[in-house]
Amino acid sequence: MTNDLCFLNGEFLPLNEAKVSVLDRGFLFGDGIYEVVPVYGRRIFRFDEHMARLERSLAKLRMKSPFAREGWLANCRKLIASRPEEDQVVYMQLTRGVAPRDHVMPVGLEPTVFMMSNPLRAVPADLRHQGLSCITARDFRWERGDIKSISLLGNVLARQMSADHGAAETIMFRDGFLTEAAASNVWIAHEGALLGPPKSDHVLEGIRFELLRELCEECGIAYNLRPISEADVRAADEVMLSSATKDVVAVTHIDGQPVGHGALRGKPGPVYARLYEAYQQAKQTMSI
Ligand SMILES: Cc1ncc(COP(=O)(O)O)c(C=O)c1O
Repeated sequence: MTNDLCFLNGEFLPLNEAKVSVLDRGFLFGDGIYEVVPVYGRRIFRFDEHMARLERSLAKLRMKSPFAREGWLANCRKLIASRPEEDQVVYMQLTRGVAPRDHVMPVGLEPTVFMMSNPLRAVPADLRHQGLSCITARDFRWERGDIKSISLLGNVLARQMSADHGAAETIMFRDGFLTEAAASNVWIAHEGALLGPPKSDHVLEGIRFELLRELCEECGIAYNLRPISEADVRAADEVMLSSATKDVVAVTHIDGQPVGHGALRGKPGPVYARLYEAYQQAKQTMSI
């Protein structure tokens, strides 16, 4: 594993030989951004959407990509080809670069660029079948969740809370309204419609925001982004998560209570089932 090929600052080399300066601003300040891109059957899913978000994140940090999308794509292909697994997840990270320690952004720095590919660890079949258990917490993170920042301490603390409870994720509320989970977006189904929180500085716009909108349209499911209260989540017909590695997955228990109503209480519901099915089709058509 430590011999896996990675990319660092223009060079492909084994992971255990890749070294970064202790003065790197990613190390000292968490001053950088990242992307996680899923790969199915060695083909990259929604590549342009991930690159567009990477460019948006960079712009928010007043940084620029050191190379064009074709360069990123070529690097991804080389890393993917170096591994035996058909399904992988490419990680790409840029930090502002190496400079004497000072909070102020130095001008003209060469960014540090790092990329690797790992096997995709999909949600295990039994968990997917039964649905996930999650806990809830106040969203105590900073107010720029829209940036895909490598400064993930708040998300690490939030995710660990669920790990300590043997739960899969921590669903967070800010001022009583749903934001997201530690490493995924959160959706509810209400009267047959899929509802998500509005895009804001408090939520990372997952690549699955637009994808789920498209899949809902295809499936004839209404899709609406609007403020969702904690009470809405607890009373929802269905709750689900989305992320690059989870696709879309049902949440069937929240804080130990079953989600949903009637015969479907505590079970994955029909809106989830249709979206998951459509998602699997999309993997074939939306990968390059
Ligand atoms: C905090 C947070 N929100 C949402 C998401 C989902 O984003 P995506 O669908 O692009 O994976 C992630 C992804 O890991 C995340 O870390």
